[in-house]
Amino acid sequence: MDLLSEDFQSLTTDVLVIGAGGAGLRAAIEAAAAGARVDIVCKSLLGKAHTVMAEGGIAAALGNVDAEDNWQVHFQDTMRGGQLINNWRMAELHARESPDRVYELETYGAIFDRTPDGRILQRAFGAHTYRRLCHVGDRTGLEMIRSLQDRVVQLGIEVHMEVTLTRLLKDGDRVVGAFGYNRVDGRFVAFRCKAIIMATGGWGRIFKVTSNSWEGTGDGVAMGFDAGAEVLDPEMVQFHPTGMVWPPGVRGILVTEAVRGEGGYLKNRDGKRFMLDYDPKKKELSSRDVVARSIYKEVEAGRGTEHGGANLDVTHLGAEKIKKKLPSMYEQFLRLADVDITKEPMEVAPTIHYAMGGLRVEAETGATTLPGLYAAGEVAAGLHGANRLGGNSLSDLLVFGRRAGAAAGAYQREAGLGRLDESQIAEEQETLLRPLGGNGNENPYLLQQQLQQSMQDGAGLAREEKGLKACLDEILELRQRARRVRVPGSRRYNPGWHTARDLPFMLTIAEAIVRAAIERRESRGAHWRLDYLEKDEALGRLNFIAYNDGGQVKLKQRPVPEMPPELAKLFQEPTPSPAPPKPPATRPPSPKRVPA
Ligand code: FUM
Repeated sequence: MDLLSEDFQSLTTDVLVIGAGGAGLRAAIEAAAAGARVDIVCKSLLGKAHTVMAEGGIAAALGNVDAEDNWQVHFQDTMRGGQLINNWRMAELHARESPDRVYELETYGAIFDRTPDGRILQRAFGAHTYRRLCHVGDRTGLEMIRSLQDRVVQLGIEVHMEVTLTRLLKDGDRVVGAFGYNRVDGRFVAFRCKAIIMATGGWGRIFKVTSNSWEGTGDGVAMGFDAGAEVLDPEMVQFHPTGMVWPPGVRGILVTEAVRGEGGYLKNRDGKRFMLDYDPKKKELSSRDVVARSIYKEVEAGRGTEHGGANLDVTHLGAEKIKKKLPSMYEQFLRLADVDITKEPMEVAPTIHYAMGGLRVEAETGATTLPGLYAAGEVAAGLHGANRLGGNSLSDLLVFGRRAGAAAGAYQREAGLGRLDESQIAEEQETLLRPLGGNGNENPYLLQQQLQQSMQDGAGLAREEKGLKACLDEILELRQRARRVRVPGSRRYNPGWHTARDLPFMLTIAEAIVRAAIERRESRGAHWRLDYLEKDEALGRLNFIAYNDGGQVKLKQRPVPEMPPELAKLFQEPTPSPAPPKPPATRPPSPKRVPA
């Protein structure tokens, strides 16, 4: 029943899913299958999610192209990519279950590129031993969202679009609801529910150059943190090696790894394929952290391109293959940069793409440290450790979206509705309304820009103590100034007002990132410290956790979960070397299908 009180709209459901990217949609489908009434809330429009930015494919060891592939090798690749600070159990579940999740997606209507004999085609991607990425040209994330969204609509799950939730409501320790506002008319809304699944994605917008669109402000992690949930590995932020560079208005937009997966070369201004020096074995298909650093080093050495990047060249592949396998990239460069990639190279440089850190969850269920709160996808941490392999994000959100949906679906059967505490609602209303009144004099956009610049300069690809500490000082100062933010206008469609509330979320996460980056005095995966270039064995056995101590961001350490001997022994053997590429096999194995 929906009541409209004077102050806010009040809605009740069993499971509330916050976020409508791949993880949120997959979780909603599973919670509904468990018999729950499910409502989805998204800040934007249904179908617009960062999931679409995982363009090149879904990593799953189907073995359709390289028959030698199996879950154990995928598991090893994921753990090695994450430099062994991953949660091994998450990596195991992910590697074992991804193939079934891909076949299941087909039953929802996803149409993949095929081998000549009709099986799902798989392509090479960085640091995956075998060709493993199931794909739809360079639009895989889009196809995933399209098919999951169709399923959600078929199931009649209600989606509340353009609603931003800003506070989790608690009854004692338990999360029992969420409060926020409708972006269109500024009306407040309170959800009362038995369980919440957080699936709000990442926080790329905290940095200046990012592939993330405006939604990626880290609300889910910050809301969880504010409510008392733990944030794991916040320092681990991924630079995708290839974002657009020129013209300035498109800086950071993703250039899919599929370009290199299909055989693209990275060249410096002298035309040299520099990855042959940095990683002679994997070359352009080294892990993202290595490729991003290599581009950075070439630029620092004065061998960068005109606008401070590298050239990514596919002209040798021929126009037909480029247009068939990379149609979006062809269009993107033609329309946005006036570059025909069949004839000229793309100018690229690293762009913030993904947060490996996020809410700490249980591997099997996605349960956070707060009862009633689950998390899946980029908002949750553990699977990817210090560096995510390309394509593992899409399989992550299918595997763990499904698991979180099932767990929340089961939880809500036992849990009743909790009591909504009016004082928490009143407090959040006051927080939201403050920038519209009072005598503050700070502009939220300017503060946001300063934060993005500070993070880019001080906590970016190459970090060192001095820069990190200066960045922390700036964050703390911005925190003070953010209290004095003032925005003109009303609550109706007021992006300045929305930014005023995003700002404290972004500052909280930025502080957690920087504090943990200062403490991790080593280089590991995406975390590259110029003042500590080597790995530190002791730190390699630790995860950092940010937690809320009376409104302060505090850090603690936690031992990396220990792998059982049968999995640990996989790392005593070298990863198998992939056989030289051969054409896809022509005889299909009996197709494995998962019923709808
Ligand atoms: O480059 C890409 O297509 C991105 C994939 C991913 O982040 O998984």
